[in-house]
Amino acid sequence: MPLVTSNELLLEAQREGYAIGAFNANNMECVKAVIEAAEEERAPVILQVSQGAIKYAGLQMATEMVKTVAEEASVPVVLHLDHGTSFLQNVQCLHAGFTSLMYDGSAEPLGKNMEVSAKICEIAHAVGLPVEAELGKIPKIEDYVTAEEADDLRARPEPEQVRILREKAGPNVEELMADPSQAQRFVEGTGIDSLAAAVGSIHGMWADSWPLRRDRIEELRKATNLPLVCHGSSGVIRTRADAEEKGIELKPNECTLEEAVQIGICKVNVATAVSMAFLKGAWDAWQERLNEKDLRKILLPGLQSAKELVRGYMRLFSCSGRVSGTSAVAASEVKHAE
Ligand code: G3H
Ligand code: ZN
Repeated sequence: MPLVTSNELLLEAQREGYAIGAFNANNMECVKAVIEAAEEERAPVILQVSQGAIKYAGLQMATEMVKTVAEEASVPVVLHLDHGTSFLQNVQCLHAGFTSLMYDGSAEPLGKNMEVSAKICEIAHAVGLPVEAELGKIPKIEDYVTAEEADDLRARPEPEQVRILREKAGPNVEELMADPSQAQRFVEGTGIDSLAAAVGSIHGMWADSWPLRRDRIEELRKATNLPLVCHGSSGVIRTRADAEEKGIELKPNECTLEEAVQIGICKVNVATAVSMAFLKGAWDAWQERLNEKDLRKILLPGLQSAKELVRGYMRLFSCSGRVSGTSAVAASEVKHAE
C-alpha cells in the first residue's frame, strides 16, 4: 500500500493510548525483519532513515528499500527522516518521497532550533507532511563512557551497570532533559506535529536497563498535548517485571517503557537493539557453520532474530493487532529457502 504520514498513525495512537514502533532502515535484512514482524503482528510501523544509514547506504538506496517494502505491505508504513541535520536535508527528503520529517536542533541554541524547525514545518505542511523536532538533548552513551569503560561495564551485573551509570551520567542526563516550561512556546512557535523530548533516555545503550522520567513525560504531555517521541529506547527497561527480575530499582519519579506508552509516548525509536539482535543471530549461525559459503544462510538467521525482537516491542507498545487483514509479505524462511 502507499506510504502513510506519521500524523495518520501517531494521532490515532495518541487517542487510543498505544505507541508506534520506529525502527531504523540500516540494511535490507533489517528492513525486511521490521516489515515481516509488522505484517505478522498486524501493526502499523515507522521505518526511519538515520544519518548513519544515509552515510552507509546513501539516501537513495535507503529510501528505495523502504518504499519497495511498503508498496508490497498490507500494513501502513511511514518513511521518516531520523535526526535530520538541516533545513536543506529536510527539503531533500521531502523531495525524495519521505512521509515524515525531523529536525534535530538540540545542539543549537533554543532560538535557532525553533527558527529552523518552524521553517521546515512551513514547507512540509504546505504539502501535508508532519514534522518532529527535538527539545532538550538526548545524549549518547559515548558521551559518558569510553569504549574500554563500556566493555568493563557490560561484563558486570545489570544493577551494578545502572548504579555506575547513574553516577557517571545521571546528573547530566537530568540537566539535558526537555524543560516543560519551554515546551508550549516551542510547539506554538514552530508548529511541529510531534515532540522528540529528552525524558531521561540515552542513545545507543547495549542493554534494556535504564529508566525514563515519568514526571517529565507527564508534564510535557500536559504542556503540549502532542504525540511524544521516545528516542534512545534500546536502553530503556521494558517492564516492571523485567526490572524486578533484573534486580534494578526504579525511583518513584521513574518509569518503564511500557508505562511511558501508557502516559503519552506515542512513537518509540529503537535502533541499537535491532542491530544487536541481527548481529547475534548472524554470529550464532556462523559459529555453527564456519565453512558456510553462502552469506544468505548466515544473514537470514540475523534477520529472524531481529524480527523476533521487533515483534516483542510491537507487543509491548500495544501496537499489535491494530490493522485488520492478513499478511501480504511472505516470511523470509520461505522466500529464501532455495
Ligand atoms: O533515533 C533513533 C533512536 O533514538 C534509537 O536509539 O539506538 O538507543 O535505540 P537507540
Ligand atoms: Zn534518536
